[in-house]
Amino acid sequence: MKDGVIADFTATQLMLKNIIGKVGKRYNIGRPRVVVGVPSGITEVEERAVEEAVMQAGAREVYLIEEPMAAAIGASLDVGEPSGNIIVDIGGGTTEVAVISLGGIVVSHSLRVAGDELDEDIVNYIKRELNLAIGATTAEQVKIQLGCAMPLMTEMSMEIRGRDLTTGLPRNVTVTSTQIEEALKESISKIVEIVKLTLEKTPPELAADIMEKGIVLAGGGALIKNLDKLISQETDMPVYVADEPLDCVVRGAGKVLEDIERLGRVLVNARNKKYR
Ligand SMILES: Nc1ncnc2c1ncn2[C@@H]1O[C@H](COP(=O)(O)OP(=O)(O)OP(=O)(O)O)[C@@H](O)[C@H]1O
Ligand SMILES: [Mg+2]
Repeated sequence: MKDGVIADFTATQLMLKNIIGKVGKRYNIGRPRVVVGVPSGITEVEERAVEEAVMQAGAREVYLIEEPMAAAIGASLDVGEPSGNIIVDIGGGTTEVAVISLGGIVVSHSLRVAGDELDEDIVNYIKRELNLAIGATTAEQVKIQLGCAMPLMTEMSMEIRGRDLTTGLPRNVTVTSTQIEEALKESISKIVEIVKLTLEKTPPELAADIMEKGIVLAGGGALIKNLDKLISQETDMPVYVADEPLDCVVRGAGKVLEDIERLGRVLVNARNKKYR
């Protein structure tokens, strides 16, 4: 997987086969029904490729759901109601913003700026400002501990270890939340812009609903400190972080499987067309 899409078809298929095999043994089920989260706006050719890969990996039935739809269901939004909901899913590879009403996605935008890009921003900042090389894992830890979209009430700091770019030797430095806020600023403003753009493209009636109900953040990026506050300030709307934002997509997909008679209509595509 790279940037949220399949980069190596054979490896992906092996992985799926392995997972389906493990699940089958552990829970004593033969060929399972599988719900797959896909990016919104996937083409029909891509849909078929995903279906094919999952069926060949041993599924009995495959259902596709757009990830923002799954995230919204996982965040307990009532996606079937006629009023408007908006979900912002900030993952590793992509940020997806979707307005949902009557079980369908009305407007959506996707941006290839999300958690991985923020890690890279931190690597670059520390290289530039502190002359220190750090790896992606350290950068991710820094992001999780200090990453913020607006200054924190009390500045936080942590010590990290890297390689001095001049001497080539290991060196420890202390980084602060203020520095990391600076490092993330540009990418975070891109995320805020895509939310604003989506709101601008939202039909007015639905925008009025959203104004009242607020914007819901999901995905690991939702945990960046004060990101909810910044988006709220920039859009003049209430913003909420979903419970356990990292698990929204998988929980949403699970809810659909458990209640396919009622929720099946949100699926992009189903082998068994009666749910559409
Ligand atoms: N507490 C946290 N603060 C900030 N970022 C976090 C936190 N916890 C996890 N993340 C980041 O969230 C990202 C993973 O989120 P998530 O699991 O939603 O992505 P994904 O679904 O795998 O990716 P995509 O949706 O792009 O395919 C990683 O970049 C990770 O570093
Ligand atoms: Mg995701």
